[in-house]
Amino acid sequence: MTDVERSVRALRAGGLVVLPTETVYGLAADAANPKAVARLYAVKGRPADHPLILHLAPAARLETWAAVVPDYVRRLAAALWPGPLTMVLPRTDQVGQYITGGQDTVALRVPHHPLAQAVLTEFGGGVVAPSANRFGHVSPTTAAHAEQDLGDRLVAGLDIVLDGGPCEVGIESTIVDCTGDRPVVLRPGTLSVAAIEAAAGVPVAAERTRPIRVPGSLTSHYAPRADVHVVADVADLVPNESTAPQIGLLALADVETPAGVVRLAAPDDAEEFARVLYAALREADALQLPQVAAVVPSAADGAAVAVRDRLQRAAAERPS
Ligand code: TXA
Ligand code: MG
Repeated sequence: MTDVERSVRALRAGGLVVLPTETVYGLAADAANPKAVARLYAVKGRPADHPLILHLAPAARLETWAAVVPDYVRRLAAALWPGPLTMVLPRTDQVGQYITGGQDTVALRVPHHPLAQAVLTEFGGGVVAPSANRFGHVSPTTAAHAEQDLGDRLVAGLDIVLDGGPCEVGIESTIVDCTGDRPVVLRPGTLSVAAIEAAAGVPVAAERTRPIRVPGSLTSHYAPRADVHVVADVADLVPNESTAPQIGLLALADVETPAGVVRLAAPDDAEEFARVLYAALREADALQLPQVAAVVPSAADGAAVAVRDRLQRAAAERPS
């Protein structure tokens, strides 16, 4: 049996599949199976009112899942799917409330990763897939990271871990609220606002026009164990004189590493920063560094915005 066949069989049997996507690894379950979805929440440790993204095959019909599909959504789908874009739309009755956290909207995404597409196409139905990490932790960008977080909670013979290599994008998809006249970005990703506007043919609205819950935007999220500090300048780092390294550094390649500091990543640009970000944060924990400093890329659109967003959340004070 191929990996795709085993995965489809696991989904049909109510099992969970660690599924590679181009953004981060997801933990997939059959969206039509409330028991499987309930176990998915339990395995992640995620509160039941946090809605899940419904993943679809490229050939899926939007109308099956979305009750209202504005023209600009069709244009976005045509231009940017498959890809790292999630669109929030009014849901149809086909979408169980148990996946939307009780909301009347549903988040839809058609991933680009070939293995994800093959599983979704062969499965045929909708598949919910949150990032395959424990709730509040850093998202996994390799199968090994997902196994580190969830391996002991998966059931042999029922659940499956698919290895599709390291994720190309590295941070979660851009989430866009498409329930109004204009798209509104709810969670920045590597897609630029300029690219979304060009594809949509309408301007992106700057502000949310109606209250919408996006639980993934909890301030403290995407957090490693280390304390994360966003710094303007490496000159602000004062490594102490102790023998053990204390500080890890994440910064673009042109930033030099001060003595006594462990360089965790030296990406060439904001896209590469996004790709290596979560692995670097996990590396800081593996090295037991108590502190991580990040000099963030400054561009006003695209991956730089998303990298700043994730690092600021990782830096946020954790609720006790
Ligand atoms: O790139 C991604 O989007 C990855 C891969 C696996 O596809 N998935 C992912 O899922 O990041 P998750 O569950 O970690 O984050 C989903 C986000 C949450 O912030 C959730 O609140 C938001 O999507 N969301 C889901 N349904 C929503 C809805 N109906 N309205 C507003 N936000 C929604
Ligand atoms: Mg997540």
